[in-house]
Amino acid sequence: MPMLNRRIYASFPYWRYIKLPADRALDKALAQLYQFVAALISQHRARILHNPQIETKPSNFLEALLVARTDDGKTFTEEEISGSILTMLLAGEDTTANTMSWMAHFMSVHPETQAGMQQEADLVLGGGLDRALIGAQAQ
Ligand code: HEM
Repeated sequence: MPMLNRRIYASFPYWRYIKLPADRALDKALAQLYQFVAALISQHRARILHNPQIETKPSNFLEALLVARTDDGKTFTEEEISGSILTMLLAGEDTTANTMSWMAHFMSVHPETQAGMQQEADLVLGGGLDRALIGAQAQ
């Protein structure tokens, strides 16, 4: 993510001509990421092979991509599938993590807001949140 930011704001794509240590580190990290995604795809392909019902009832985004067929019966290419998974990883992880971090920060600097959130949670859960948490801790 930091390198993505750095390259988005770079005035010239120097990395296409010379590679700095950070660029080489990024290439290595991307290679590992593609390996991770390729392993995930082959695991799910094996799962679909052993559970043919997934063809009609995929249980997650990757299975849905693997069983999808275009109008002329073609499947998505390996590149399209790994590209979509990487998009979800990049678009889905940092965004949510940053939002939750900022939420925790603002809850801590605005205790009155946190109290309001607790009240709302108690209202909706009938005060069950504490019991549920205590119950979970006891297990
Ligand atoms: C709090 C969390 C999130 C925020 C603030 C957020 C914000 C955004 C914003 C602003 C865009 C538009 C970007 C643009 O058009 O330039 C976008 C696009 C997108 N987001 Fe999120 N996002 C969040 C969570 C997620 C999650 C959890 C996923 C997937 C699991 C996701 C997947 C995507 C995808 C695939 C796009 C591209 C959509 C398209 O161009 O058709 N995002 N998001």
